[in-house]
Amino acid sequence: MLNRSAKGLSDFYGYYPMLATIVTAKSGRKENAMAVAWHAIVSMKPPTYGVSISPKRFTHRLISKGRRFAVNFMPTSEAELIAAVGGCSGRDVDKFKEFGIEKAKPLAIDVPILKRAYFAIECRLVDTFRCGDHDLFVGKIAATHWSDDAFSKSGLVRFAKANATAYMGENRYLMLSKGKAIYLDRKECIKRRRRKAAGMQRPKT
Ligand SMILES: Cc1cc2nc3c(=O)[nH]c(=O)nc-3n(C[C@H](O)[C@H](O)[C@H](O)COP(=O)(O)O)c2cc1C
Repeated sequence: MLNRSAKGLSDFYGYYPMLATIVTAKSGRKENAMAVAWHAIVSMKPPTYGVSISPKRFTHRLISKGRRFAVNFMPTSEAELIAAVGGCSGRDVDKFKEFGIEKAKPLAIDVPILKRAYFAIECRLVDTFRCGDHDLFVGKIAATHWSDDAFSKSGLVRFAKANATAYMGENRYLMLSKGKAIYLDRKECIKRRRRKAAGMQRPKT
C-alpha cells in the first residue's frame, strides 16, 4: 500500500531524478549561466523546449530581456561546475570568468554554448507562463550542438560516453554512465500487462 497525504508535495523529491543542465542566457553584453533541473522538450513540430526558472534568478531577467537561452547537457566530469553555477548569482559574479567556463560558437542565436556539453540547444523565447514560484520559459529550438561520441547512429544517448548527470534534489547527483537501458516494445507490453491483469482477475479454484 502507498502512503498518502493531502498536504501537497511536502518534503518529497519523488519526481527526481532529472537531468542536470546548465542554462545560459544573454541580454545586451551581459551573459550568465545557471544550473537547471526543471526542463523538458514540449513539442516536436515545431521543436520547442521549456525551462522552469524562478523570478529570483538573475538568469530570469536575462531571458525575459534577451528573449533567448541555451540548454547545455553536461557530462559528470562537469558536475562540480553545475553545482558552482547553481550556487551563486550572476548578479554578484561573472561566472564565465570565475569558473573558467569555456564557450563554443553559437550557430543561430547570440547565446553562450558550453564547450564541454555533450548536447546543447539554442532557443528563441516564444512564450512565458507564470506557474507559481517559477515561470516556464518556452523556446523554439533554432540550433542543436552535439558530440558524435555521445550518440548512437539513431540519435540515442550513449550513456557510457555522454556521462550524463542526473539531479536527485538535496545536492545529490547521479552518474548515469553505469546505467543500462532496456528495450520495451509498447505493443508487447500491452499484451503482457493484459495477460497479467487477466491472470489476477481469474477466480481462484
Ligand atoms: C542541480 C541544480 C538544479 C537547479 N535547478 C533549478 C531550476 O530548475 N530552476 C530554478 O529556478 N533554479 C534551479 N536551481 C537554482 C539556481 O541554479 C540557482 O539559484 C542559481 O544560483 C541562480 O543563478 P543566477 O541568479 O545567476 O541566475 C538549481 C540549482 C542546482 C544546484
